[in-house]
Amino acid sequence: MSKNIDSILQENRVFEPPAEFAQKARVTPDKLQALRDAAEADHAGFWGDLARNEIDWQTPFTVSLDESNAPHYRWFTDGKLNVSWNCLDRHLETRGDKTALIFEGEQGDTRHITYRELHAEVCQFANALKDNGVGKGDRVIIYMPMTPEAVIAMQACARIGAIHSVVFGGFSSQALADRIKDAGAKMVITADGAHRGGKIVELKQATDEALSDGEHSVEKVIVLRRTGHDVAMRDGRDIWWDDAVSGMADQCEPEWVDAEHPLFLLYTSGSTGKPKGIQHSTGGYLINAIVTCQWVFDIQDDDVFWCTADVGWITGHTYVAFGPLAIGATEVMYEGAPTWPDGGRFWKICQDHAVTIFYTAPTAIRALMRLGDDIPNSYDLSKLRLLGTVGEPINPEAWIWYHEVIGKERCPIVDTWWQTETGAHMIAPLPGATPLKPGSCTQPLPGIAADVVDEQGNSVPDNAGGYLVIKKPWPSMLRTIWGDDQRYIDTYWPMFDGKYYLAGDSARRDEDGFFWIMGRIDDVLNVSGHRLGTMEVESALVAHDKVAEAAVVGRKDDIKGEAIVAFVICKGERPVGDAADAMIKELRDWVAREIGPIAKPDDIRFADGLPKTRSGKIMRRLLRAIANNEEITQDTSTLENEAVVEQLQGKA
Ligand code: PRX
Repeated sequence: MSKNIDSILQENRVFEPPAEFAQKARVTPDKLQALRDAAEADHAGFWGDLARNEIDWQTPFTVSLDESNAPHYRWFTDGKLNVSWNCLDRHLETRGDKTALIFEGEQGDTRHITYRELHAEVCQFANALKDNGVGKGDRVIIYMPMTPEAVIAMQACARIGAIHSVVFGGFSSQALADRIKDAGAKMVITADGAHRGGKIVELKQATDEALSDGEHSVEKVIVLRRTGHDVAMRDGRDIWWDDAVSGMADQCEPEWVDAEHPLFLLYTSGSTGKPKGIQHSTGGYLINAIVTCQWVFDIQDDDVFWCTADVGWITGHTYVAFGPLAIGATEVMYEGAPTWPDGGRFWKICQDHAVTIFYTAPTAIRALMRLGDDIPNSYDLSKLRLLGTVGEPINPEAWIWYHEVIGKERCPIVDTWWQTETGAHMIAPLPGATPLKPGSCTQPLPGIAADVVDEQGNSVPDNAGGYLVIKKPWPSMLRTIWGDDQRYIDTYWPMFDGKYYLAGDSARRDEDGFFWIMGRIDDVLNVSGHRLGTMEVESALVAHDKVAEAAVVGRKDDIKGEAIVAFVICKGERPVGDAADAMIKELRDWVAREIGPIAKPDDIRFADGLPKTRSGKIMRRLLRAIANNEEITQDTSTLENEAVVEQLQGKA
């Protein structure tokens, strides 16, 4: 904790909104001030007005916020709506023939889908879901490639009130099985495979493995034909997507659900070995998705918006599957890897589809920056007008490169701080109104009561580090952890008398009220903008039959932000030389199988024991220092076995 809170980054440059951008922006400085004033004057009323104006309600609500059962806050409780209606049907008259999705496959195939076409496909698939026994409240796992059908599946679930849970296609069959069981899913929607980095990701095979033990509630598996390679289909359980929709009507009356009806679950890492099923609502989630697309991305009718996130992450939910569609935007979806066939792919897509707003992760920016300026300079990026980042702090060097080489100093950069749990942007600039400081996510959005506080919950002085908290409920906040409400309370409301939402990040606020995120305060790693619990990786390692004990920590990494370092104690002899190399490979492959390739440790070190205090606590701070090759300043005299430090440092 103190380690995170101490570190302070110094960056003094300020970039004002470019005049040309500001003139056309949806939110001017005056409008921003008016929004802030309105939120300040009447927090619940502010959100209520936005929800009334921006969402089509089948039954209007009269209650904006119900705080009677805090921290189980409920928004717009007596209203009824449907998210899919708001994303599709309501645009048909005004922009039915407008392109909703521009899809590009990794192999270069493209598809343009209008709002009318998307509506028809969603309705057909919604009817297919019903035909296969899925109804309101049933859980559906979506384990798919980044193709339009992933969005269609999510929208179709929303249309019939089914609760989807998307599992990132890079997760292993074991991770998929855990989520299927935890969610009690009735159906899995998958594909024969996905194209990624020139290879095929075997999604169907992983699904079969996940379902192989029979201890689950899945009745049907719908399989999209994407790659066309042979996959096994199980009689009575598996259905091809095309067969499922064949003969289905292209109209489907939406299921009108309560504002609080769960829209989806999304699993994310915490500080225990078990991922948490973050449960989001319908009405509250939708309003924050809509207003952040307007305020932060400034999406206008003629924009082409591209968020590069996979639908397996929250970013791909809010800024691919729901937000942009709810405001009738045109958006790009890309199936594959950023460097396939070369490091120009993102820039080529921006050029070919005339992308105007581009949103990606710092890790991708750093990786592409490494390849040099010639690559982006060989594409026409002149249509870009706004850039964005998400997932981790962006280092000023990468920020400046993004600004100069991609944005040609013309495009503001919105650095957006938020989380799976918050549902939508929380701290971020409004690009026509907020000055930018490289590395800062700037200021809380109107209606978001973010603060930096000490252990007692008092605001800390300017530039002092502390806990990042949200002091008032907001509509798109998580509602609970699926099946584990106590964990919801313990994780997010453990301090400050349960009054403030604890984000789990440390931060500081500078003299201008700008926020600088310093990192996690718990045992959660941020690897390439993705959250991974150290305990998750440790549990995977100790599940290997040759491993007795393991501890996992993060090491600073220039591209990934953090790299995973594992300290492993094997049963029997400590492996050395070739045996150690073989064991490292075996364990890396093992973790990839247990969780997914993103969780593979970058560095594995063996010792006879872990450094522990005499009371048996693993000295994690010491391990972090070892992993980062830092000088060891800690008192190691309490160590049970001092030799292990040298072994872990690779000196013995
Ligand atoms: O530590 C913060 C970091 O990512 C965490 C949330 O991760 P996840 O739920 O996977 O969602 C990522 C996409 C929204 C946060 O607790 N984080 C996210 N955005 C930023 C960030 N850190 C610094 N700056 C950001 N813009």
